[in-house]
Amino acid sequence: MADEAVATTAVRGRVLTFTGDPALAGADRSYRYIPDGLVVMQGGLIRAVGDAAALLRTLPPGSTVDHHPAGLVMAGFIDTHIHYPQTRVIGSYGAQLLEWLQRYTFPEEERLHDPDRAAGTARFFLDELLRNGTTTAAVYCTVHPASVEAFFAESERRGTRMIAGKVLMDRNAPPDLLDTAAQGYHESEALLHRWHGRGRQLYAITPRFAFTSTDAQLEAAGALARAHPTAYVQTHLSENHAEIAATKALFPWARSYTAVYERYGLLGPRSLFGHCIHLDEDEVELLAGSGSVAVFCPTSNLFLGSGLFDLARLRGRAAPVRVALATDVGGGTSYSMLRTAAEAYKVLQLRRQSWPALDAFYAITRGNAEALGLGNQIGSLEPGHEADLVVLDSRATPAMAHRRAGMGEDLSEELFALLTLGDDRAVAATYVGGRLATPAGAARVREAEPAR
Ligand code: GUN
Ligand code: ZN
Repeated sequence: MADEAVATTAVRGRVLTFTGDPALAGADRSYRYIPDGLVVMQGGLIRAVGDAAALLRTLPPGSTVDHHPAGLVMAGFIDTHIHYPQTRVIGSYGAQLLEWLQRYTFPEEERLHDPDRAAGTARFFLDELLRNGTTTAAVYCTVHPASVEAFFAESERRGTRMIAGKVLMDRNAPPDLLDTAAQGYHESEALLHRWHGRGRQLYAITPRFAFTSTDAQLEAAGALARAHPTAYVQTHLSENHAEIAATKALFPWARSYTAVYERYGLLGPRSLFGHCIHLDEDEVELLAGSGSVAVFCPTSNLFLGSGLFDLARLRGRAAPVRVALATDVGGGTSYSMLRTAAEAYKVLQLRRQSWPALDAFYAITRGNAEALGLGNQIGSLEPGHEADLVVLDSRATPAMAHRRAGMGEDLSEELFALLTLGDDRAVAATYVGGRLATPAGAARVREAEPAR
């Protein structure tokens, strides 16, 4: 048995990876598709990508090849906004944002003061992401430092690249979920020192949203971001009309919701703003000018009745806003980035905007990687990139197989049906750092020695 650290493994199948944004480069120039391809991995990185026939001959003896003859092999999916403490909040009935937080979310987040519960939740959550083909996520923990510790420890154990942070809240939440401006700063900084850049883990300074922070806390968050410019900032912005009105009442000096974050230095290219639905023109300019990322969370926006994200408005301007896609579980209703992209398509239909399948698959892989500033590490299958892969089966269910039987070989048609009908059942396997991270799928054949 070869040494794990240097063992060469490979995944064989129909390899698809993006080389650019289809909306900018043109569909035909945005991807590479290899009908019988091989992704060769060693030491956690991709070493080669190309035709199986040629590359199989180059594998050292003792290499393992996982063959998915009909599988689509892609870079692992990336989720740019999700709450790990909300695995038992998902699917809670009948409330819009502020009531939903009070009635369901805060009580559940209070339970994560227990480190054992946090650890168990982190395990379930990461299992669920990997089952859905998601290998990187930007994750909200709770206000409790131990919840962050539990999450990063579990991610490190699995070798996943994750971004996460302690939620900062010093008002408008139950007393057990509040910190203070100074405490939040020091606890965040200690976690950041411990985890940011340790292996594959990255830290996000996480003021929940302006409504649950005082001016002093937002100022402290901005100071922390200035002191640690490689850390991320993540928060929520302009999701719901009642939230916007309440925020304006709390910050009467601000000309807009976005201007609150601007005032405290929280905008910038490493800042991720969940939702961004009801922005005025000045706010759109603030986001564009600062290089901030607007995160579209379609299943959440529909489920909580928040509104319809306006992609064309944010992207179709001389200075576009950077946009990413995310589940926002537990406001969001699915862990699957396939389902999430399908709901994004429907939201855009209601806005009379089109969103081809290639754009959607670009968004959940390379597009989200670039939104996180990680386009050189994850999101596409290239030598030197981290070896996080998903293998998809576009015939995974009877309905999918039936639909596919009536189809030609057109890749974008296959991708669109996969996204519309697919979910976790379409994920045949997920690889993290070159190693299989999910139970073997039916389509998978492991060959002890590569066929030569
Ligand atoms: N705004 C502030 N906190 C949250 C949250 O947990 N979920 C969503 N969807 N919006 C928020
Ligand atoms: Zn959220």
